[in-house]
Amino acid sequence: MKDAPQSKFQNAVIYEIYIRSFYDSNGDGVGDIKGIIDHLDYLGGSDWGLGVNTLWLTPFYKSPMADFGYDVSDYCEVDPIFGSLDDFKKLVHKAHQHNMKVLVDFIPNHTSDQHAWFQSSKSSRDNPKRSWYIWSDPKADGSPPNNWKNIFGGSAWEWDAITEQYYLHSFLAQQPDLNWSNPEVQAAMKQVLVFWSELGVDGFRVDAVEWMSKDPSLADDPLDPEYSPDKNPNSYHSLLHHHSKRGPDLSEFMKIISETVHSYPDQLLIFEAHPHYWNDTRAYTTFYRNVNSPLTAPFNLEALSSSWQAESFSKFIDGFQEALDDIDVPIYAFGNHDCSRLASRVGPGAAPTAAMLLLTLPGIPVIYYGDELGMTDSTIPQDKLQDQFEKNNPGVGIGRDPERVPLPWTNGPNAGFSSGTPWLPIEENYQDHSIETQLADETSLFNLYRQLLQLRDKLQLFQSGSYQSFDIHPDVFCYKRANTEHSCVVILNFSDQAIQVSNDLLKGQVILSTYQDNRVSQVDGSAELRPHEGLIIQV
Ligand code: BGC
Ligand code: MG
Repeated sequence: MKDAPQSKFQNAVIYEIYIRSFYDSNGDGVGDIKGIIDHLDYLGGSDWGLGVNTLWLTPFYKSPMADFGYDVSDYCEVDPIFGSLDDFKKLVHKAHQHNMKVLVDFIPNHTSDQHAWFQSSKSSRDNPKRSWYIWSDPKADGSPPNNWKNIFGGSAWEWDAITEQYYLHSFLAQQPDLNWSNPEVQAAMKQVLVFWSELGVDGFRVDAVEWMSKDPSLADDPLDPEYSPDKNPNSYHSLLHHHSKRGPDLSEFMKIISETVHSYPDQLLIFEAHPHYWNDTRAYTTFYRNVNSPLTAPFNLEALSSSWQAESFSKFIDGFQEALDDIDVPIYAFGNHDCSRLASRVGPGAAPTAAMLLLTLPGIPVIYYGDELGMTDSTIPQDKLQDQFEKNNPGVGIGRDPERVPLPWTNGPNAGFSSGTPWLPIEENYQDHSIETQLADETSLFNLYRQLLQLRDKLQLFQSGSYQSFDIHPDVFCYKRANTEHSCVVILNFSDQAIQVSNDLLKGQVILSTYQDNRVSQVDGSAELRPHEGLIIQV
């Protein structure tokens, strides 16, 4: 990758705010928009803040909350639990004053079953909105039209006794799939994008795009011969989703979204898609070329399923970087609200190493709230469970509550998150991770994130310089980032053992260690890395 074209996202660093758990300003136990407005200092580049510059807000639209906001009953209203539309406008205004951009979630694949569109659609077979959703007759024996499964467990079809047809839901039964083949649906959803763009948002994260297009023949999905519940406890994966997702019109639907969003200048559009699962080695290239716009990209989510080994990480990162064209923006996320916490996946000892990696890669990094504090997955008592994913698949460990608990602000009651009862319990060891604790410790993980972000801001090579990796040791991931002015070598020890490395690349000034202790200031051809240590060397 050469220097990417200039845009207002040139040096973007995204912070994902799972809004229910960020800060509760009114004591109802649920985080809200005002809670974000009041804490922009924590996020931005104030003299003590983290220093991110782009916020991605998970859905705050009107919703019955069956899937905590990913079931939208009105796309252009704010749910009262999060505040009002005026609060949102104020947030955008204040964020912009703090030089921060705001991305919002766009959920095109499905609405809530409480959405007025679906209420009309199910009211009768000849309602004009019937074809806004996907309805189908039962088989002769009354069973669902095919074997498709919904991702939360069970059939993807729900019977409607009144109109005697099934409707399709790739997620919960409370989340009926929209019929994107219907131009009226396309037009209505374009209006939603226009509505938020007019309000001044800086872009969108598009939810679950791969399901937007299905095989119109509704053919059965084949069984995955390699499936075993030990490998993946979610039985959704016992099928190969050849017909139920990534259908023939997916690129066209993504283009509709992309063209609408980019009719506003300089908006960023990120698709939640998984090209690396598309069984095609050039899948990323295909994806980027299909949407062909410098500010449209899929997430790279491969870190979420890669084992913490230098080889697995260098392999997917090298492959991905090679697949990209000069204008393509890589967007690396190492965590999100749907998967186990970064520090739980890599182990708390490696959390600083993972931070250095994420924040020194090309493109736009995405930090999931709380990962900057090393939050780990919580154990949620049975009576406090919230996520329907867990409730539909009890005990197999695929619920998402563990990674969604409130951000620990202080060491006081409820970790300073809320004056009421938090919707999910506070982390058990929250005092170790709290912002209060970490602000008082110069070697905290929070402080490492902060230093890395400052460096990224200062040295342009981290934003847009070239990337090249080098094999120097099986447990060490080593790469060089360079532009015409400077170059830096990053070396990351993925193991919990000390490692001695020697290479001509390793010559220069050590500008940061994940240990944050300046033990070595200069290297000349070799370095001793402590367990999990990462170093940035300015050549
Ligand atoms: C979101 C999930 C959500 C699902 C359905 C996703 O991929 O990230 O949190 O449950 O889409 O909207
Ligand atoms: Mg609240």
